[in-house]
Amino acid sequence: MEKILVTSALPYANGPLHIGHVAGAYLPGDIYVRFQKLIGNDVLFICGTDEYGAPISIKAEAEGVTPRQLVDRYHTSIKESFQGLRIEFDNFSGTARPRHVEIAQQFFLNLLEKGYISQKTTEQWFDPRFERFLADRYVEGICPYCGAEGARGDQCDKCGKLIDALKLIEPRSKISGEIPVIRETTHWYLELPKFEHKLRQWLDTKKYWKDNVLNFILGWLDEGLIERAITRDIDWGVPVPLDNAHGKVLYVWFDAPIGYISSTMEWAERQGQPDKWKDYWLNEKTRLIHFLGKDNIPFHTIIWPSMLMEQKDPFVLPDDVPANEYLNLEGQKMSTSRNWTLWVNDFLQYFDGDLLRYVLAANAPETKDSDFSWKDFQARVNNELNNILGNLANRTFLFARNHFSGKISKPGELREISRKTLSEADNILIQLEESYSGYQVRKATKLFMDLARLGNKYFDETRPWVTIKDNKQEALETLYVCTELLRIISITGFPVIPHSMLKLRKMMSLDCAFNWEDIHHPQNEFLLSDIEPLFSKIDDKAIDYQIELLEKRANINQVTLQHKEHIDFDTFSKLEIRIVRIIRAEKVERSNKLLKLKIDLGGEIRTVVAGIAKSYREDELVGRKVVMVMNLTPRVVMGIKSEAMILAAHYDDELSILVPDNDVPEGSEIS
Ligand code: MF3
Ligand code: ZN
Repeated sequence: MEKILVTSALPYANGPLHIGHVAGAYLPGDIYVRFQKLIGNDVLFICGTDEYGAPISIKAEAEGVTPRQLVDRYHTSIKESFQGLRIEFDNFSGTARPRHVEIAQQFFLNLLEKGYISQKTTEQWFDPRFERFLADRYVEGICPYCGAEGARGDQCDKCGKLIDALKLIEPRSKISGEIPVIRETTHWYLELPKFEHKLRQWLDTKKYWKDNVLNFILGWLDEGLIERAITRDIDWGVPVPLDNAHGKVLYVWFDAPIGYISSTMEWAERQGQPDKWKDYWLNEKTRLIHFLGKDNIPFHTIIWPSMLMEQKDPFVLPDDVPANEYLNLEGQKMSTSRNWTLWVNDFLQYFDGDLLRYVLAANAPETKDSDFSWKDFQARVNNELNNILGNLANRTFLFARNHFSGKISKPGELREISRKTLSEADNILIQLEESYSGYQVRKATKLFMDLARLGNKYFDETRPWVTIKDNKQEALETLYVCTELLRIISITGFPVIPHSMLKLRKMMSLDCAFNWEDIHHPQNEFLLSDIEPLFSKIDDKAIDYQIELLEKRANINQVTLQHKEHIDFDTFSKLEIRIVRIIRAEKVERSNKLLKLKIDLGGEIRTVVAGIAKSYREDELVGRKVVMVMNLTPRVVMGIKSEAMILAAHYDDELSILVPDNDVPEGSEIS
């Protein structure tokens, strides 16, 4: 018996769960765990909400609630989603609980003591308006590696690289939209280069990992590891446990994976055996497996193992990190900010969780991005679950009820066609085991459905509706073989659609406690009871309604304006806004967004760098009178000092500069 510790990435408690999360980290984990439990391994499935970090404190502030309240709300909502989807963790904790804080601090202190953490004062982006440092995702700009726009201060979604925020091109504060300034601050750094040798040695033993994961890591290592700040200047996080660290907390990515451990400790305590977590974490025989989406790869394969390697206790390192790609929605990238997503709790108001499990499993983004569409959902439910699996159960059981009072016993000797069918099933079973153990959820799903296809084909070929007339025994044999197949399906399909498979077993009066081994013990007799359809078809109207809802929700979200806090008139009048005339305009080298402008305020000439090149050509601007803010602290952008800011309206990805209604003199003030 193997000891397997399985985790799914801790979801941020800053919003509800959507189907992208489910497809990437939770469903594949749950399916794997259910399979491993069926084959009799000692498996623990651990998760919890990721509760710290700037996104949560900023969202709480915007809603006028405390971070705690926000976190509790989403912890409950996420838990409900998991229940509805029958994703069953052995423990589901949260990282803002006292035990977690203590362990995370201990992790930090151990690394500090061993010399893997150093303290440094550096420059960072600072939002002058909101007076706060712009950690990570609070500053956005152009990716210095791939040139994509909208790269965040911690990572570029386009190329996946981790970014040094100061290297972002054309940075903007996410909270105020303003150009941030640079300020000094002190932080603690994890010295990743010191781990490189050990990491490489360890990764050398991981040749069996998925290609997408290995490629990612090798790319990372080849670029050279750099030290990473693991503390932040915010007030919602695990406090840095040092006297000279007032107001500093651990970076959420440092503390979050430690949540896997603290959640396991919570589990052990609930078992009444508080030390039992050690059987898993401090046991080199444990297989530690992390399920996650691809954006989480570097943290789990480089940073987290480094943290684990140099603790005082001998922690086990990840045995595998089966990361998944992304799930799109109706052919478009999901986006929670545009509300282009499907929230699990919304789904569950209309449909059963097993249906989503099936469709996401059949379409899992294992090796490349995949797509969820409502039409595909309907087709899979109707044509596969209903017409293949549901149909096999239905036709077999109804026939048995009508002609044999629901009692199906094993015939003495099976005919050739029956033996052939069952041995074909055996072949499928071998592949099924391989697929489940190899995290190939897609393939496993197709294979257990193949068992039902096999059953239908056999039913058609042996034609019990004909044989019942003059060879009742043959008809009964057909029913027996089909019911045997259904019994096997109820075990092999259980990891993917557990609720439906239990329902199926009940109809066959089979025990709800079962294991994989039972597959090989044919039943001598089946007694059917309470037969009802396993699935039902979804009609076009129900699907059209969902598509409408999706589009409506996305639109509602687009017109919801994000308002800023009130300011008094004195604050407003501190702005010096004037009409200026553009006298020269030229492109800024190495930038496709920036123009360098010379402006005239009525005698006084200034230089301005403006991010408007995508909407205006140089010759469209020269001679025009526009509106500018004159008294922002000058900034150097791409080596050019910018001494004012042009005002423009933003819509879609375009800009429209503001101009006066009449021809007013340069320098006129605006209020
Ligand atoms: N909250 C992170 C996310 O949703 C995942 C954290 S995984 C952990 O992307 F390992 F840090 F817990
Ligand atoms: Zn990039």
